[in-house]
Amino acid sequence: MASENTPVTLEKIVSLCKRRGFVYQTAEIYSGLNGVYDFGPLGAQLKINIKNSWLKDMNSQPEEILLIDGSILGPFDEWKASGHVDSFADPMVDCQNCKRRFRADDPDIDLNKTCPVCRVKNWTDVRQFKLMFETQVGAVAGQSSIAFLRPETAQSIFINFKNVVTSNRVKVPFGISQIGKAFRNEITPKQFLFRLREFEQMELEFFCKEENSREFFEKWLERRNNFYLNLGINPKNIRFREHEKDELAHYSKYCTDIEYNFPFGWKELEGIAYRTNYDLSQHIKHSGKDLSIFDPQTNESFVPHVIECSVGVDRTFLTILFDAYYEDEIEGEKRICLKLNPKVAPVKAAILPLVKKLNEPAIKIYQELKKSGFVIQFDESGSIGKRYRRQDEIGTPVCFTFDFDSLQDQKVTARNRDTLEQNRISIDQIKNYLNDLLK
Ligand code: GAP
Repeated sequence: MASENTPVTLEKIVSLCKRRGFVYQTAEIYSGLNGVYDFGPLGAQLKINIKNSWLKDMNSQPEEILLIDGSILGPFDEWKASGHVDSFADPMVDCQNCKRRFRADDPDIDLNKTCPVCRVKNWTDVRQFKLMFETQVGAVAGQSSIAFLRPETAQSIFINFKNVVTSNRVKVPFGISQIGKAFRNEITPKQFLFRLREFEQMELEFFCKEENSREFFEKWLERRNNFYLNLGINPKNIRFREHEKDELAHYSKYCTDIEYNFPFGWKELEGIAYRTNYDLSQHIKHSGKDLSIFDPQTNESFVPHVIECSVGVDRTFLTILFDAYYEDEIEGEKRICLKLNPKVAPVKAAILPLVKKLNEPAIKIYQELKKSGFVIQFDESGSIGKRYRRQDEIGTPVCFTFDFDSLQDQKVTARNRDTLEQNRISIDQIKNYLNDLLK
């Protein structure tokens, strides 16, 4: 978290992401595409580390959680059954003067007042804007060839529920998890990675009996909160917010958001929802297939209820960057630092030869660590202070400097990003040092 006198802003994060190759605007050379971004080398690595942390956390839970990877395209019937064809829309309003389009429920928009852009009051009526991207599959157009890009990964889980149960012999309570792309034609994508048109979700659908749903809901609130704390997110920046009845999604009976204190206000990071057995029941009704499971204890079949934990990879990415961003001054020079948890840091260590003359033995260490699978960098250019700063800015937890003494004592100086402490450690202990850091 940034120190009191250097508040982190969205502009600072956007600029760092571009400067250091975390995130690029999609098709920048063609003026971009609104609400869509590409991830550069550091961003792609950070994203993978976030996803791996989530998967590890899911795997460490006491109940069985099975991972699937569903398709992005889905047929009309699937999305009709889920309720998205009819209900997945946002209220939209246009300013007839400047032609800007807004979400009517945006807190910055008051239809009794003037347009915030052109300061004229000339609104259209509020209309419902469908958020799903629709396309045609195959050569013949018609209702049967309509397909949608999924707006949530969850439905892939529901439509594969029976396949997973029968091919894995699992019993409730258990979960099915998934990480994958989702698409929404958001009326106003904004705040960089916060609201995108193409994004990735990490979703868990946890199946249980109806009578245990409240108990598991509470458990998952605690588990998901712990996940963020274990990632090193400042607890002061995390809170729960229960949904009001009128803001619940069409499938949900109750829902609590885990919110993060972004520079633009407290906003949803993750939604934890009790979806009842709405989705499975809808798919039973529309497909005519039996998706119930048999309970040998009661000798009855039932349709399990669901607790859902749903979070965006991109939104977690943005949260982690905001939370880790820090500015201070070292020896009179400003330093930008990402105090990332080593587990998610895109680069785990850097090898720095003090002078170019020492490159050869330093490269050997670098190659050896690379061979062991560590994502590390070798940097030989500029003063050692400059090189430390370059690594601090991308959140590298430790730099190992190879100096003239290293030739004699076979030790390097390990410099810690957060404490700035410097210790001599044996070259043959570097792997253990890094493994300890990543535990
Ligand atoms: N399956 C439930 C579901 O999709 P949601 O609240 O619409 O619920 C869940 O989305 C999470 O997905 C959000 O908490 C957020 O982290 C992420 N998310 C949703 N829409 C997003 C968007 N347009 N851009 C980036 N992330 C988004």
